Amino acid sequence: MTSPEETYRRTTPRSRELHERAVAVMPGGTTRTTTYFPPYPLYIERGEGCFIWDADCTERVDMLGNYSAMILGHAHPKIVEAIRDQAARGTGFAAANPVEVELATLLCERVPSFDAVRFCNSGTEATMFAMRLARAFTGRPKIARMEGGYHGTHDYAEVSTHPLVDDAGPPDAPIAVRDSIGTPEWALENVVVLPFNDPDAAEAIIRREAGSLAAVILEPIIGAGGVIAARPVFLQRLRDVTVELGILLIFDEVISFRVGPGGAQEMYGVTPDLTTLGKIIGGGLPVAAFGGRADVMELLDPRREPNLAQGGTYNGNPLGMAAGLACMRELTPDVFAELNRKGERVAEQLSEVFASHGVPAQINGVGSLLAIHFSDKPVVDYRAVAASDKKRMRDFFLALVNHGVLMAPRGMGAISTPMDEDVLQRFVDAVDEVVGELKPAWGSG
Ligand SMILES: Cc1ncc(COP(=O)(O)O)c(C=O)c1O
Repeated sequence: MTSPEETYRRTTPRSRELHERAVAVMPGGTTRTTTYFPPYPLYIERGEGCFIWDADCTERVDMLGNYSAMILGHAHPKIVEAIRDQAARGTGFAAANPVEVELATLLCERVPSFDAVRFCNSGTEATMFAMRLARAFTGRPKIARMEGGYHGTHDYAEVSTHPLVDDAGPPDAPIAVRDSIGTPEWALENVVVLPFNDPDAAEAIIRREAGSLAAVILEPIIGAGGVIAARPVFLQRLRDVTVELGILLIFDEVISFRVGPGGAQEMYGVTPDLTTLGKIIGGGLPVAAFGGRADVMELLDPRREPNLAQGGTYNGNPLGMAAGLACMRELTPDVFAELNRKGERVAEQLSEVFASHGVPAQINGVGSLLAIHFSDKPVVDYRAVAASDKKRMRDFFLALVNHGVLMAPRGMGAISTPMDEDVLQRFVDAVDEVVGELKPAWGSG
């Protein structure tokens, strides 16, 4: 059988050529580690609706939508119009603008924890500022986070996102492991790692560290790390213990905000002190936000002294605000409900496909988010992700690209509104064909 890599190389010559040029000017031929995969990344030229076209003009179903950001698909007419209108009126001023007031008002109306909000340009910045705000508010230095969660790429965030299990300590008392060369030692000393979905173990660690903990941050639904929903009791326990100990609770909803009008916090009925947003709120442009309790957010008020300064040339830039506003206005409760229904149906269909082939796999689905794990056990935390079969995932990902579907190399997918039943069936059929093709090479079990 031809390997997925051979087929990929044969069918993507223009991407290969672009990569050869790109490696001369960008490390690894890309400017985003996440989009690199071996042997070389796909270079996408165009997107429309839920389809993308690579440099060889090959059409694929975009099951990733820029890691869940493109909830309305590509080049949505309302967003294109909003960007065009705003671009003609100017794209950035060293001044406040009316569009940011509109988007801030909309978000404060929708997000249960938002009394006030501030904009920035990436989820990385949003979590960095939320953590800084928590340290400023409490006067304490440390941040607790979940093993296997993802909060971007600043120093406090680059800890225990995907540690080698051999280095990471016992499952119920994980130790802080640096994710990247260059992550400073002080980050390891100031980040406390908690086991996701284990309320007793997490509470014990929080109590032990309480005197120096400013905040507990988590994704209520782990996104890029495998679409893993927090158990309601886990979130409630974190809420109760943080209230008792005067520690701020931060929900990182950069991905999970797409599960409903008020995000995962509304779905669970658990309200954090601060929340970070990104992805969908920019309608495809680089916009992110952090917000929350009035008494915490007021530390950012430049009229008070001292205050926490949040500069940023592009904070609230009118182009991103206009695109975000157009996107959020399209996302009515009915639109979310329909997306979630599609997501649930696809997750069921995928489970049936894997079962019909006798290939052990877990389909983690929450609303319009899904992830495939090659594992015979439920994937409820990082250790379960780490135990899944990574070799199968690599084969599957590339073979799926060859069959006309782009998902994340680690198996995450996100459904967008332009995906109708035919497109979703095309996706399920592609998975069926790929598993059928790869199964003989994978052997039994
Ligand atoms: C939950 C979460 N937080 C933060 C980030 C970082 O966002 P950005 O890539 O915009 O910096 C991401 C990115 O995927 C994310 O999924």
